[in-house]
Amino acid sequence: MKSHLKLIAAAAGMALVSAAVLPAGAFTADLQSLRGAVEIPATDQAPSIDIFKYQEGGSWSRNFRQQPPLIPHKVEKYQVDRNVNQCVSCHDWSNAKRMRAPQISETHYLDRDGNRLDSIAGTRWFCTQCHVPQTDAKPLVENEFAPAPTLR
Ligand code: HEC
Ligand code: HEC
Repeated sequence: MKSHLKLIAAAAGMALVSAAVLPAGAFTADLQSLRGAVEIPATDQAPSIDIFKYQEGGSWSRNFRQQPPLIPHKVEKYQVDRNVNQCVSCHDWSNAKRMRAPQISETHYLDRDGNRLDSIAGTRWFCTQCHVPQTDAKPLVENEFAPAPTLR
């Protein structure tokens, strides 16, 4: 793993060096961006949110013990910003029972120093940093991820 990382770092370093030496645009002939033939400064058209059908209902099993559970419902309409967090209106301990939603676990109410809080810790505020819904879209890049051995 370590040597792997070193290789990647070395490759990234080389890319930086050559990018500084070569004129802009020298790479475009060889590299194919995942978003297709769109010039780097151009803004691509945002995909319609209906492109992917989220897999809803029930709950997902976890692939490793520490995995944040996957979200089994749509999320794009729930606002989460500095002042508002609509996830909390269903999942916070004070609302979960009434809303019949799984309750946010105790770990989300500990600040970085381990103090117990009455409301969600700032480090857990942006839920979708860790929790994501699922769709069976074609993966952009192949990967060989396998669940933890105890779950196989
Ligand atoms: C209107 C209420 C409501 C809102 C708002 C809501 N959820 Fe949920 N959530 C639920 C319910 C109910 C479930 C249980 C599964 C189901 O019925 O879809 C659930 C399930 C989940 C789960 C799965 C938990 C587990 O143990 O498997 C996660 C994670 C989750 N929601 C995260 C979020 C996040 C993040 C947001 C905000 C972007 C959010 N939810 C907004 C009601 C809500
Ligand atoms: C830093 C990553 C992270 C953030 C941010 C985060 N969570 Fe979690 N969440 C986790 C992990 C990891 C678990 C599983 C372990 C645990 O319960 O702590 C989890 C568990 C949960 C569960 C299941 C609890 C259970 O007992 O099964 C719910 C529901 C949940 N989170 C909702 C939320 C909501 C809502 C937010 C935003 C207010 C949020 N989480 C923010 C990582 C995160």
